[in-house]
Amino acid sequence: LPPCVTPPEPGLWMWVLCTMFFMGALPSPAEMSQGHISVVLLGATGDLAKKYLWQGLFQLYMDQVSSGHSFTFHGAALTALEPGQKMMFDVLKKLACPPDEAPDRCAVLKDQFLKLSQYHQLKTAENYTVLNREIEVLLRQEGLKEAGRIFYFSVPPFAYTEIARHINSSCRPPPGAWLRVVLEKPFGHDLESAQQLAAELTSFFREEEMYRVDHYLGKQAVAHILPFRDQNQEFLDPIWNRHHVERVEIVLKEVVDAKGRTSFYEQYGVIRDVLQNHLTEALMFLTMELPGNLSRTEEVLQCKLQALRSLRGLEKHSAVLGQYQAYASHVQEELKKGQDYVSTTPTFAGVLVQSDSLRWEGVPFLLTSGKALDERVGYVRVLFKNRAYCTQSETLRDAGHSQCKAKQIIFYIGHGALNTPAVLVSRNLFRPVMPKSSWREVVGQPELHVFGQPLSDYYVYSPVKERDAYSVLISNIYHGRKDFFITTENLLASWAFWTPLLNSISQQPPRLYPGGVENQNLLDFEMVSGELAFTAAEPVELLHPDRSMPSDFKTIQSKFRQSPLVSMWSEDLISQLASDVEKAANRAVAGSGQFHLALSGGSSPVALFQRLARHHYAFPWRHTHIWLVDERCVPLTDPESNFFSLHSHLLQSIRVPYFNVHPMPVHLNQRLCVEEDGGTELYAKEIAALVANSSFDLVLLGLGTDGHTASLFPDSEDGLEGTQAVVLTESPIKPHQRMSFSLSLINKARQVFVLVVGKGKHDITTQISRVGRQPRKWPISGVSPSSGQLVWYVDYEALLG
Ligand SMILES: *[C@@H]1O[C@H](CO)[C@@H](O)[C@H](O)[C@H]1NC(C)=O
Ligand SMILES: *[C@@H]1O[C@H](CO)[C@@H](O)[C@H](O)[C@H]1NC(C)=O
Ligand SMILES: *[C@@H]1O[C@H](CO)[C@@H](O)[C@H](O)[C@H]1NC(C)=O
Ligand SMILES: *[C@@H]1O[C@H](CO)[C@@H](O)[C@H](O)[C@H]1NC(C)=O
Repeated sequence: LPPCVTPPEPGLWMWVLCTMFFMGALPSPAEMSQGHISVVLLGATGDLAKKYLWQGLFQLYMDQVSSGHSFTFHGAALTALEPGQKMMFDVLKKLACPPDEAPDRCAVLKDQFLKLSQYHQLKTAENYTVLNREIEVLLRQEGLKEAGRIFYFSVPPFAYTEIARHINSSCRPPPGAWLRVVLEKPFGHDLESAQQLAAELTSFFREEEMYRVDHYLGKQAVAHILPFRDQNQEFLDPIWNRHHVERVEIVLKEVVDAKGRTSFYEQYGVIRDVLQNHLTEALMFLTMELPGNLSRTEEVLQCKLQALRSLRGLEKHSAVLGQYQAYASHVQEELKKGQDYVSTTPTFAGVLVQSDSLRWEGVPFLLTSGKALDERVGYVRVLFKNRAYCTQSETLRDAGHSQCKAKQIIFYIGHGALNTPAVLVSRNLFRPVMPKSSWREVVGQPELHVFGQPLSDYYVYSPVKERDAYSVLISNIYHGRKDFFITTENLLASWAFWTPLLNSISQQPPRLYPGGVENQNLLDFEMVSGELAFTAAEPVELLHPDRSMPSDFKTIQSKFRQSPLVSMWSEDLISQLASDVEKAANRAVAGSGQFHLALSGGSSPVALFQRLARHHYAFPWRHTHIWLVDERCVPLTDPESNFFSLHSHLLQSIRVPYFNVHPMPVHLNQRLCVEEDGGTELYAKEIAALVANSSFDLVLLGLGTDGHTASLFPDSEDGLEGTQAVVLTESPIKPHQRMSFSLSLINKARQVFVLVVGKGKHDITTQISRVGRQPRKWPISGVSPSSGQLVWYVDYEALLG
């Protein structure tokens, strides 16, 4: 060790390295062949660094001191050298020895760690160049090979770009050594800002160099979800799916409020702060397909991305939102807002997430988080369906680990009743395989209850060594385990999933709650046909000034254009129409064994489709044939397609045999609605072959503001005259080309229902009520079944304006 004799300029480290060698703490230089790692912590005197990061780096040092790597630690901040140094070493002196570490060894290592640490002012480009030179000089003088550099960004995101530029231009390690930059959230505010930030970073760093931290992935219970699934495949394979899982709850409850943090919180709110990142990541670990080999980071990340992309889009009603009452005053104080300032930032949210994957379709995933709640706790709870029926009385059945009890697997993240990370598996499920070196079985505490069951009903495991999330993550950065971090693709997919919900609720006033135990059941929520709603009504009575119609003014039933008219508020109208369609169906099936139903496109019937899908469980779908009255000339998978809409809102929810579904053949020979492809003749032939006399049992029509119906438009004779059953037409609005039933085909039907809803239809409704049969001007006026019945369903708004 020649440099030990005469310590030159940056000689402090060499002196340390030598001392350590003589103390036996370090391997000999020959064993140090793995090379040197420089860790630069930017924001070294900030809160996160004080609370977690230095401790995590110290843990890394303790764990890896004999790994063959040598280390130096460089704390950096904007503060000038001397005050910065003092602040940083005040933090370092307080570093704690973990309880599972021998005190003597720890004291020695802490001493060394302090000596290997140095403060740097990193403010100007020159400061970065100097840091780089110091690292180079040290390595050269030591004769050490450089393994890599870690730059940990513990700074606000607005500072990212500038620091990234300096690192890229003057602190990159030489070829052969790696660079890892570690970034802390927030990673943007929505999809657009995340894309922008990602694009900036991509110009300075390669994807494999970036480690975006979501500290939840370092929580021991979360980090163990995938290994648990992998090691217990034998038990989980048959039950880890929609046939067995009843629901999943992913929960992070906090007692604290946002006081002192509102300048951040007011812009973010609970969904951006917790759900978009932490809870979504936990959700992915649960729902993703298991890669063949968990050690292959690339495969893990691909499976995770796929799971993220198979989530069903969220809508406004996928969420319930709350805000603790004192939040408004915290914001007014801290952000200097006036008394009239109203914040719609949620501090509580429950969101129903669903996956369209074959494995999880229909299983509700409830993501919940909030501030000022009754307890601090985090968990992921998988509740299984219970198929057992138990004949013995409850007192007898509770003995043993009967199949009657709830079956659940819980990844307990921390705090709460258990106050430790844990994995719990109901004893009536299976005894899990757990790695003995890192998890140990917990017994005792029989009086403790978790989710309604005594602890003795579970196999319970907790970590042998409890590790803070940041220690776990720092260790993974050191090992280059990228699957513990958020890739750019993953990040953008997550924002793409959450942004539409965030946009749709941005103006929605959250429910106010008092905070703590006083919340009582105010924030309880339930699932109602795929949506979430609070179970208890809001205590304040809300007035609906626009609903001032007298309540007895309920139903108008008379005549419209000499045909029966049904008129109500639109919701009642849709429900009446759905019942009448079902009656028609039952009548037809009783008569001929079949029901031929032709449905129109457009927006009006969507509510009817949804009503039929969710309320009419006795509908004879098995004997129903579904036809399209009209179609737009786009592929059937295009969101503009009428069939696509019908599929989304009705077909995918009911059990109509595939061979009874008859989309219009607008797409033939890889082209759309070309006359010579004969799509219209093809459809007419199919109708003639299956529908007796081409006379439909029921045709549902709508009415356009220009008087069009089906896709039969004014000022053109297409489909209005002649006997051709199915025709091509031109719409004045895009997409222009259409395929449609003709008036002649419509008028053969046994029943025709015309549905007209909304204020926007009032003018045309009034006009149509007064005119005679003039199909060239108002195609709807040509609808008059030759031997069938016509019924008008017009809501109050359309009828009365
Ligand atoms: C950082 O750079 C500035 C200007 O380039 C210089 O004045 C300052 O002394 C440098 N700080 C340190 C600690 O070298
Ligand atoms: C990053 O550094 C490389 C090499 O010095 C340089 O070519 C590139 O332009 C830098 N990127 C940016 C965005 O400055
Ligand atoms: C999993 O992948 C790792 C890394 O590629 C490899 O070392 C290991 O042997 C693989 N395990 C199995 C069971 O294939
Ligand atoms: C078909 O039409 C013919 C002649 O119009 C009629 O006699 C027959 O009853 C009709 N069949 C059905 C099933 O409606």
